[in-house]
Amino acid sequence: MNKPLLTVEQLSAGYGDIQVLWDVDVSVNSGEIVCLVGSNGAGKSTLLKTISGLIQPSSGRVVFDDKDLTHATAKEIVQAGIAHVPEGRRLFGPLTVLDNLLLGAYLRTDQNEIRRDVERMYEIFPILAKRRKQQAGTMSGGEQQMCAIARGLMARPRLLMIDELSLGLAPQVVEMLSDIITGIAKDGLAVLLVEQDVMTAFDLASKAVVIDTGKVSITGPTADLKYDTSIREAYMGLPSS
Ligand SMILES: Nc1ncnc2c1ncn2[C@@H]1O[C@H](COP(=O)(O)OP(=O)(O)OP(=O)(O)O)[C@@H](O)[C@H]1O
Ligand SMILES: [Mg+2]
Repeated sequence: MNKPLLTVEQLSAGYGDIQVLWDVDVSVNSGEIVCLVGSNGAGKSTLLKTISGLIQPSSGRVVFDDKDLTHATAKEIVQAGIAHVPEGRRLFGPLTVLDNLLLGAYLRTDQNEIRRDVERMYEIFPILAKRRKQQAGTMSGGEQQMCAIARGLMARPRLLMIDELSLGLAPQVVEMLSDIITGIAKDGLAVLLVEQDVMTAFDLASKAVVIDTGKVSITGPTADLKYDTSIREAYMGLPSS
């Protein structure tokens, strides 16, 4: 089998003296959607922040496309092909949708290609075309999430990490975003998704990694884990059978 595009090996990280992640292993293949689930405070966002270079790990490795990115800067990590859609979307609210999209391409110099990619984003997310001149901060939650994902894609990543895809969004919007993400993964994009709604996560992803107080407790195909008693009880609020 081919090597995974992203391999996180025995990764430990935290904030100052507080260790949050303990020997975490995660891998994502090209075209694969992997979801990361776990309770509030388990360390999901911390893992994404460590992969994207916002936090330096204390031990372990992050390897992407055969390159060791463990101690790379956030900029080098974007350049290597990893984009991060952060929790809370973090758009530049006073700037227009178009300017937010262009900011996603800030490390690129291929102006014509950037313009083409903006048009591609408008095709994928037609509502963003309508809102191109609107201040991003004035849009609805769903529109802002689309803008945040499109901004991430503007970096032309090979791995897109999305923290809390569905939080606060209407079911129809979540369904639409899920279809779009499935479509772009079919084109070869790897996706690492943090999702608090485990049912949505399991429908979308083929593999799940469960994090429990900073440690991976379960990894496996979502098709199997859907029926896992402990997951059904702890994360889906469902009885075990
Ligand atoms: N900047 C920070 N400084 C100190 N501790 C932090 C910081 N950010 C997060 N933590 C702590 O790290 C732990 C993991 O937080 P993290 O945000 O990674 O959890 P999470 O799994 O994403 O939770 P949620 O589902 O609520 O988003 C928590 O105990 C949190 O309080
Ligand atoms: Mg989080």
